[in-house]
Amino acid sequence: MYKWIMAGLMSAAALFAVFILLTQMPEKEEVSEGGAAFSVPEREVDAAAAQLISKNMCISCHGTDLKGGIGPDLTKIGSSLTKEQLYKTISEGRGGMPAFKDRLTEDEMITMATWLSSLK
Ligand code: HEC
Repeated sequence: MYKWIMAGLMSAAALFAVFILLTQMPEKEEVSEGGAAFSVPEREVDAAAAQLISKNMCISCHGTDLKGGIGPDLTKIGSSLTKEQLYKTISEGRGGMPAFKDRLTEDEMITMATWLSSLK
């Protein structure tokens, strides 16, 4: 009897794992495609990591304190763009803003989008 209960529990756990895998997969694909309906995963803001990326990649155009230069002021960008819009702008670029998807990893772009969206 005990054996059957254990077997039942194990297969329930296995099914659950498959279910989790299947439901997680589409989200990841959509993020890397940068398609229309995607969402940037929830993260803690990592200001230190973001500022380091910013210093190396962004301030040359957006100014030392991101207060604007060749590119616009980003110090309150979180109140006008969503995290998804920020991610997309960084990843794909827009107008004079270069695309960073070949220069930053997906993880770094999430770090940037999360941090910028907290600047309000
Ligand atoms: C080569 C110069 C340049 C670099 C480097 C650059 N940007 Fe930009 N960025 C621009 C310009 C120019 C725009 C305005 C784009 C437009 O709408 O025409 C812009 C726009 C943006 C916007 C949208 C602002 C708005 O008001 O809609 C965001 C967000 C942004 N940049 C983030 C970044 C981040 C993050 C980095 C570093 C990873 C970065 N940029 C690096 C030039 C640059």
